[in-house]
Amino acid sequence: MKLLITGSNGQLGSEIRVLSASYKSLNFIFKDLPDLDICNLKELQNFITKNKITGVINCAAYTAVDKAEEDEGIAKNVNSKGVSNIVKALQKVNGKLIHISTDYVFNGDHFLPYKESDPVSPIGVYGATKRAGELAVINSAIDSIVIRTSWLYSSYGNNFVKTMLRLGNEKESLEVISDQVGTPTYARDLAKTCLEILCRDSSNEISENGKLYHYSNDGVASWYDFAKEIMTLGEMNCKVHPIQTKDYPTLAKRPQYSVLNKSKIKTDFDIEIPYWRDSLKECIEKIKS
Ligand SMILES: NC(=O)c1ccc[n+]([C@@H]2O[C@H](COP(=O)([O-])OP(=O)(O)OC[C@H]3O[C@@H](n4cnc5c(N)ncnc54)[C@H](OP(=O)(O)O)[C@@H]3O)[C@@H](O)[C@H]2O)c1
Repeated sequence: MKLLITGSNGQLGSEIRVLSASYKSLNFIFKDLPDLDICNLKELQNFITKNKITGVINCAAYTAVDKAEEDEGIAKNVNSKGVSNIVKALQKVNGKLIHISTDYVFNGDHFLPYKESDPVSPIGVYGATKRAGELAVINSAIDSIVIRTSWLYSSYGNNFVKTMLRLGNEKESLEVISDQVGTPTYARDLAKTCLEILCRDSSNEISENGKLYHYSNDGVASWYDFAKEIMTLGEMNCKVHPIQTKDYPTLAKRPQYSVLNKSKIKTDFDIEIPYWRDSLKECIEKIKS
């Protein structure tokens, strides 16, 4: 398979690049802005056809959740129209697509892990534009799946883990929200899952059991639990104090609860999912090395 990674300089794209050397059956092409803009249909179609691309993992997205509330046009363009463009371009070459979506398609009004079949109801612009992108894939006839993930972090890019490590060195104490619950996900684990799915049996349809999947690390945490564990693993003395969402106002509302049920991806693709604390340890060791 000749595999195009769009948005390849982001967290997930960078992790796929690191793993790519171990996947000899895949021939990778990594592209990001400004070289390849998924919002430019003509450019994208030409690139996919000319380079005989047979598969795409779409890591490109507008991920600034708060900014999206004010920049709805750009968020829509990348997260919805950009995804439709990839679908259109792949239709022409009969290619496969793995597209990544988010736990923010849910409103957080739950107390049990969200299944793929649970109704969506995004509470912010980012979630709504990502939902529109999901629909472009789900309603298409191409061999494609959408993987929803949550609380992504990596040694690459900007994320909660890197912010906490920085603040932990600068401050004696921090306040972190304890009444929003989800699961952190190491982008390396998600990258591996995407590549395993594509390599499993390239003659099989990846969407033979449906198009929607959930993937995060295993277990449950609040942002406060996550921050405490970062301080422990990072061997920092910074004290973390729990606060409530109402004490930390943000432009975009976040779901209060966004734990994902991963049974379907585990069963359909025979995937083992690491516990979030174990993966966090790996990532922090990498950052510190
Ligand atoms: N981060 C999270 O906590 C989280 C949680 C749940 C789901 N997700 C989803 O997981 C996926 C990967 O997220 P991530 O954290 O790896 O994202 P990321 O680090 O923000 O990377 C996204 C990449 O896409 C690029 N990009 C933006 N617009 C583009 C365009 N028009 N054409 C081509 N590339 C473009 C970005 O470039 P610029 O930096 O130059 O804009 C960036 O390099 C996304 O679909 C995201 O929605 C993320």
